[in-house]
Order: sequence, then structure tokens, then C-alpha cells
Amino acid sequence: QLSPIDTAKFVAAKRACDFVEDGMRLGLGTGSTAAWLVRCLGEMVREDGLRITGVPTSVRTAELARQVGITVTSLDEAKWLDLTIDGADEVDPELNLIKGGGGALLQEKIVATASDRMLVIADVSKQVQALGAFPLPIEVVPFGWRTTKALIEETLTSLDVLGDQASLRLNGDQAYVTDEGNYILDLHLGRIGNPRQLALVVNQIPGVVENGLFIDICDVVITGHGSGKVEVRD
Ligand code: A5P
Repeated sequence: QLSPIDTAKFVAAKRACDFVEDGMRLGLGTGSTAAWLVRCLGEMVREDGLRITGVPTSVRTAELARQVGITVTSLDEAKWLDLTIDGADEVDPELNLIKGGGGALLQEKIVATASDRMLVIADVSKQVQALGAFPLPIEVVPFGWRTTKALIEETLTSLDVLGDQASLRLNGDQAYVTDEGNYILDLHLGRIGNPRQLALVVNQIPGVVENGLFIDICDVVITGHGSGKVEVRD
């Protein structure tokens, strides 16, 4: 028996499988919702003979995909993808997203951008009117990260958007390290008035590798409810 939150994630993932066709090259997202998708796809591969090639967006997803029987390749090998399916931390009415709560935003953004379509699967709690209540992850190189953090805070203050300080993401008492060997700063903004502008400005700061705002990247959002109901928005 699944909890309501797992039911919501599962039904969204299950519905997303309807978008997957034989022979597709698929970007496989990261996180607990994307893990449901990978398990569902694995079942289709093993039981229905579905032929797909998956490009995972993290070491975690690559391990899971292999375990469930999905053929895995690199983005360089696949070059371009038909569809990427991933979770999100927040989704606004324009289908703009905050991602990176699981720390995989860089590979996720590269993979989603290299796809004909991006489909997001999420439980209903991820739907928001305006992005920003969820802390915005920014991936930065470890070299000089304190200076980069100060520059980000200064830039945000000049844009009048920083509600609180940026915080270095930790793993125990050490800095959390991404699959690409970088650090993550989480920005506590509360509400992002102009996500498009923020995404562009933050990426201009030396030391910033990428930010967790996905603007005009997502094409379809599938929202799952604890009752088992599913909504598709595009
Ligand atoms: C991973 O870096 C994230 O972008 C995830 O997609 C996001 O955090 C959603 O994760 P859950 O599905 O576990 O909520």
C-alpha cells in the first residue's frame, strides 16, 4: 500500500510512460519521482519488450536504470534525445521550474536542453503560483566559492530579490559535492518576481556553473494526486 505522496508520484510516472515510444532515446531524470519512472520503464523493457536507450542525469539514476534492465548510454554517444522525463521541485503556471533539490541540476539541464521535448512529472505539492519558496540551487566551482557566493548576494541585492543569505549545501559537516565535482549554494528567495532575468544574471557571475531555473525548457507537466488522479498540462 503506497502513501498518498508515493501514489501521486507513481501515477504521474505511469502516465508519462504513455509518451514513450519504441526506439526512443530518452533522458532519465533524477529524484524520487523520476525513480518511479525508471522502474516503470524497466518493467516495460522486461515484460513488453520495449526498446529504449536511456541517458541518465546522475550516477544514482544510471545505477537504477541498469538494475531495472534499461540500456544506458552517454549524451555524447546519443547526441540528441527524443524526450526527457524528470521531476521538479517547483512548477509555475508557465511551466517554468526550479530543479536541483537532488543536486543533479547541471546534467538535468544539459540533457533536457538536448531533447526534442521535456516532460515533468510531479506530485501536486510542486505546483506554485510563483517560483522561489523552494531554495534556488546554484552550482558553483569549488575554487573561490566564498567569493562567488558574495558576488551572487551582491548581485541579488542590487536586483532586490535576496530575502536571506545563500547557504552552502552540506553533506554532514562537509560541502555537498555534485556528480561534476562542484558545490551547491541554495538561495532563500521566498518569491522570484522575474525568473527569466534572474537565470540570465546569475549565470554571468564567474564561478557559477549553472542555476536551477528551467525557463522555457519544459513542454508538458504531469501532476499526480494522492487520490490517483492525474492532470496533464502543456
Ligand atoms: C534533482 O536534482 C532534482 O532536480 C529533482 O528532479 C527534484 O529535486 C525533484 O525530486 P523529487 O522527485 O524527489 O521530489
